[in-house]
Amino acid sequence: MVSRVIPVDRFDLVIFGGTGDLARRKILPALFRRYCAGQIPQDTRIIGAARSDMDCAGFRQVTADAIREFGGGRGCEDGTLEEFLDCIQYETVDAKGDMGWDALRGRLRDGVTKAFYFSVGPSLFGDLAQRLRDFGLADDHSRVVVEKPFGHDLETARALNATLAQHFSEDQIYRIDHYLGKETVQNLMAVRFGNVLFEPLWNAQYVDHIQITVAETVDVSGRGMYYDRSGAMRDMVQNHLMQLLCLIAMEPPARFEPDAVRDEKLKVIRALDPVDYHHIVRGQYSANDTQASYRTHVEDPRSTTESFVALKCNVSNWRWAGTPFYLRTGKCLKERSSEIVVVFKDAPHSIFGPDAGTHRNVLTIRLQPNEGITMRVTIKEPGPGGMRLVDVPLDMSFAEALGPDAEDVPDAYERLIMDVIRGNQTLFMRGDEVEAAWAWTDPIIEGWRRRGEVPKPYEPGSTGPEDALMLMHRDGRKWRDIRA
Ligand code: BG6
Repeated sequence: MVSRVIPVDRFDLVIFGGTGDLARRKILPALFRRYCAGQIPQDTRIIGAARSDMDCAGFRQVTADAIREFGGGRGCEDGTLEEFLDCIQYETVDAKGDMGWDALRGRLRDGVTKAFYFSVGPSLFGDLAQRLRDFGLADDHSRVVVEKPFGHDLETARALNATLAQHFSEDQIYRIDHYLGKETVQNLMAVRFGNVLFEPLWNAQYVDHIQITVAETVDVSGRGMYYDRSGAMRDMVQNHLMQLLCLIAMEPPARFEPDAVRDEKLKVIRALDPVDYHHIVRGQYSANDTQASYRTHVEDPRSTTESFVALKCNVSNWRWAGTPFYLRTGKCLKERSSEIVVVFKDAPHSIFGPDAGTHRNVLTIRLQPNEGITMRVTIKEPGPGGMRLVDVPLDMSFAEALGPDAEDVPDAYERLIMDVIRGNQTLFMRGDEVEAAWAWTDPIIEGWRRRGEVPKPYEPGSTGPEDALMLMHRDGRKWRDIRA
């Protein structure tokens, strides 16, 4: 199999916050890898812009160091990195003042796609957007890219949307949820809508329940300040898990086009019932011999922010009424493992009698690591002794099935940045989607506050608090083990 790389037209990309963590870890290495893949023309300008007083040579050094540290691959050795650095420029700008803006405009060219990446805190979005217009850097064809957190709640998300809308139209705004850029997340859509096999069964008549797990082993040290204001609900559920839920639950869009896809996702979010507080478990990791507790990683030693959430929710529409969705995510868990598990109902009648046993079909879509799909099917246990049933996996690991191509899969940022340049918004969140997601999450968080709820402690390296297991057991179900 040969991967096809379609080069994009030359472009000017300004990265505000160009010397920051996200730019160094993700954006610059992603651009470099696309450059190595031959997708970015040599005649491209990537301009870092930040408050730090630095010249182009200084920023080229920052870029080179970041690429070496965060994964530039072979290109770091064969001279491609030096070539790429010719695309890199820098301008010192003051987001809240006039300094640097005329000079920055001078670095941009007419007649090329211009994109502005706001790799800064949301409190600067308004200032940047306004200055891009006032100083004549942006026009009606320019694009702006913003990152999460997109608001802290519905009110702040609305305010951010309104601020951006004063200067840019919705089709110019690219809100990144990097989960949508993951290859396997897009594969969810390919599996659902590219196969005739699943769609007839993809509803409450055949699906008993769906589990979505995003488990991480990392703790929150190093980003305790941000995290303690967010917690797992705002950091992961409101965006990444919600997007996964949408892709699993949505109706087939008529076309794989931005608004067709986003309209369907929005309908799912709007069909979510409010969550009963008995159906949510919050947790916070405690300490053990090798791991410090959550509270030592944040400033407030009595913090009641959650580092784990498990919940049960219902999508109230004709397709899903009666099929619960169980979501869980947390830090410091036993493995890093993200997967979606679709558990089908029992066969309506067992012709083999009670001694044969029954097994359910289970479709597991593994997002990371070891991306792949497994379908468990029921067969006869081999050998004599009558008809006894067992379930076995029909396995497809992408690495095995696709060979070296599976390893060359671009990371989420590579795909998403190229989509910005191509002007394709399909994998970006629309303003109304973000607001609808907050409208669903806000009452949950507000309920915790009102009831003065304290998260349940859980052992680092475990699967989360006991109560999360009970959430399923009460319904006669159980979580799939968290396995790497
Ligand atoms: C980020 C969250 O959006 O996603 C982090 O802020 C989290 O807390 C990260 O660790 C997980 O992303 P990934 O790609 O490693 O699954």
